[in-house]
Amino acid sequence: MDRGEMIVPKEEMERQARFAREVRLLPHRPQSYHVVTYGCQMNAHDSEKIAGMLEEMGMVPSARREDADFVIFNTCCVRENAERRALGNVTWLKEVRKQKPDMVIAVCGCMIQEPGMAEIILRQYRFVDLAFGTSNMHKLPEMLYETLNSGKQNVNVEDRDVIAEDLPVRRLRQDAAYVTIMYGCDNFCSYCIVPYVRGRERSREPDTILREVENLAASGVKEIMLLGQNVNSYGKGLPGNPSFAELLKRLDGTGIPRIRFMTSHPKDLSDDLIGVMAQGKNILPQFHLPVQSGNNEILKKMNRHYTREQYLDRVEKLRAAIPGIGLSTDIIVSFPGETEAQFEDTMNLVNEVRYDSAFTFVYSPRTGTKAAAMKELIPEEVSSERIGRLIALQESLQKETLKRFIGQEEEILVEGMSKRSNLAVSGKGRHAVSVTVEGDEQDIGQILKCRITGLKNNTLIGERI
Ligand code: 5AD
Ligand code: SF4
Repeated sequence: MDRGEMIVPKEEMERQARFAREVRLLPHRPQSYHVVTYGCQMNAHDSEKIAGMLEEMGMVPSARREDADFVIFNTCCVRENAERRALGNVTWLKEVRKQKPDMVIAVCGCMIQEPGMAEIILRQYRFVDLAFGTSNMHKLPEMLYETLNSGKQNVNVEDRDVIAEDLPVRRLRQDAAYVTIMYGCDNFCSYCIVPYVRGRERSREPDTILREVENLAASGVKEIMLLGQNVNSYGKGLPGNPSFAELLKRLDGTGIPRIRFMTSHPKDLSDDLIGVMAQGKNILPQFHLPVQSGNNEILKKMNRHYTREQYLDRVEKLRAAIPGIGLSTDIIVSFPGETEAQFEDTMNLVNEVRYDSAFTFVYSPRTGTKAAAMKELIPEEVSSERIGRLIALQESLQKETLKRFIGQEEEILVEGMSKRSNLAVSGKGRHAVSVTVEGDEQDIGQILKCRITGLKNNTLIGERI
């Protein structure tokens, strides 16, 4: 597909904006909405766009889903339990609607784009009014307009691999914003369904991203999180093949105080990027670098295209260039055929790297992926024992790694009141570690300078300076 076909034309976006105005004028339209989000940051940002469109249609947010006139589930399908939870909650709402017959129920996101799912919704979930995939999201105004007028179920998963610019966004936070830089993934890790549901890699134009970030900076946003399934391969297919390192350098020049990004694939983590981070002014000293496994044979079966040694080399380079950098990772245990010794390799790697945090998952077979055809599934008892050991190891190491901050200065962006005390606020430091410090509601959204004085339950305690 060439770029011209990929970017949704301006006329189509304007047509959708007209449908949004038409929905607003309908006397029987929903007045309130509630978005339920599952999964990753990419989905969280899609939900912000959905909320933006619904507000353009005149709806106001409702805190509880059972009170809303329009309820939309933005789903994830990366693991089976995410999918089961979403479907369970959709079915529960069917019961709630018996008391509220005008409620409109919609399901969107990755799960809807799984092969066969559209048919399942059409046949087994007839009470769902609207269903659409990630590439059809910009058509929500038109789809809702049709459903409200016809009363018929509307399922749309046809479009693939598009980039829809300039959708309205209702941000979850005023002080921090997500900025998508690329969509889709071409890596086809053997366990992962993302390339099948989010389509081929496609990058947004650097100038468009720059403009967006400049506007965010001008409106007082203090932190941006650049999003992509593999930000390190940003730029493929764009004129001049700009790299992620170049983009990051340009964004650093906008003066936005804090820049983060995720996710990175170790095979594409370049020395240039490390250099830009080391010299950057506002790029935060933190890196999410999913390792998935510490064993070379498993990495090969996972189709990850790096070895344990190459991964450790990247970690070493990052640490040498950006002293004290905060590292986090994703790990899958019990990939098909994983032996005890291979699992031990993952444990050793965790012991060696010493991450500030790790997201750990038990392998979940996903229909259509290469790994789903692999035999030798690991029994559940073995998996839960392994993940238990891994979590315990990570927790004990985390206590040690976080001690390096004690006595140091940190700047935190305050996210909200502390859950443990109404005289304290909490937020993330530049290294992405949570810090609690004395404060009140007026501090929310502000950057505070503090000195770290202690550590309690894996949260750093700070003192304002
Ligand atoms: N089973 C378990 N974990 C998975 N992930 C992706 N696919 C699967 C799967 N089939 C994990 C990976 C990825 C994170 C977002 O989810 O660790 O980095
Ligand atoms: Fe999935 Fe691998 Fe792409 Fe990440 S890089 S989204 S794990 S296929």
